[in-house]
Amino acid sequence: MTTALCLENSGDDASKKKDHDSPCFIRQDNFEFCGYSLKIAMGVNLGVSAYVWDSGIALCRYFEKEKISFTGKKVIELGSGTGIVGILVTLLGGAVTMTDQPDTLKQIEYNVSTNIPTASRHRLKVRPLTWGEDQTNFPTDYDFILGSDIVYSSVTYPSLIRTLHYLANQGTTIYLSSEFRKGNGSLSFHEVLLPEYFNCLVVDRLEDKDITVYKMTRISTSPEIGLRA
Ligand SMILES: C[S@@+](CC[C@H](N)C(=O)[O-])C[C@H]1O[C@@H](n2cnc3c(N)ncnc32)[C@H](O)[C@@H]1O
Repeated sequence: MTTALCLENSGDDASKKKDHDSPCFIRQDNFEFCGYSLKIAMGVNLGVSAYVWDSGIALCRYFEKEKISFTGKKVIELGSGTGIVGILVTLLGGAVTMTDQPDTLKQIEYNVSTNIPTASRHRLKVRPLTWGEDQTNFPTDYDFILGSDIVYSSVTYPSLIRTLHYLANQGTTIYLSSEFRKGNGSLSFHEVLLPEYFNCLVVDRLEDKDITVYKMTRISTSPEIGLRA
């Protein structure tokens, strides 16, 4: 049986129980990327947001392997979940906006508080962004848009594509890391739908887990799409 712990939203004492309103977590795992040691807590009752998915690890490993430079770059992450990718990119020097649906933001904020030094917090924002609904609350001058394991439910594909299309300008680089699972149309989303609007390049593939990392840029002549799903 897994015991849920309610953690103090400060410091790195993951075993400290709290008896008032604070995020509750089922576990905390450690990860090493680019010389940084990350402690990522995963929350109670957050569904798919409460895990560090292999696609997230794959995207962090890709950034590590390719030594992608985020210093001084403006970055937005979609579907941050636990926040592992956005936290790493902040540590690598990016000015990062981590986004997800409102329920997940406390978990992200907790992980930010335990992993990002105070001196770097000004480079990080955590904001609600439900695809197809909230993207117009954000600017459109990002250097990078990131997403790991956000392509898994076909009902969200039209709104996800609208959000990506709205947020990206011609100079934006998009990295999406996706695990292909049977029956959710994720392969055709990447290979048929996205190429209508974006130049898509496979830059990494983990055959054993069926995870692919795509690098994308917006096609300048791509058709306009409406702002709402
Ligand atoms: C499978 S989890 C991946 C989490 C994290 N990126 C990772 O790789 O570990 C998918 C994330 O996308 C978010 N998500 C799903 N549908 C969404 C939507 N319509 N708008 C915004 N976020 C959404 C979920 O809340 C969840 O945190």
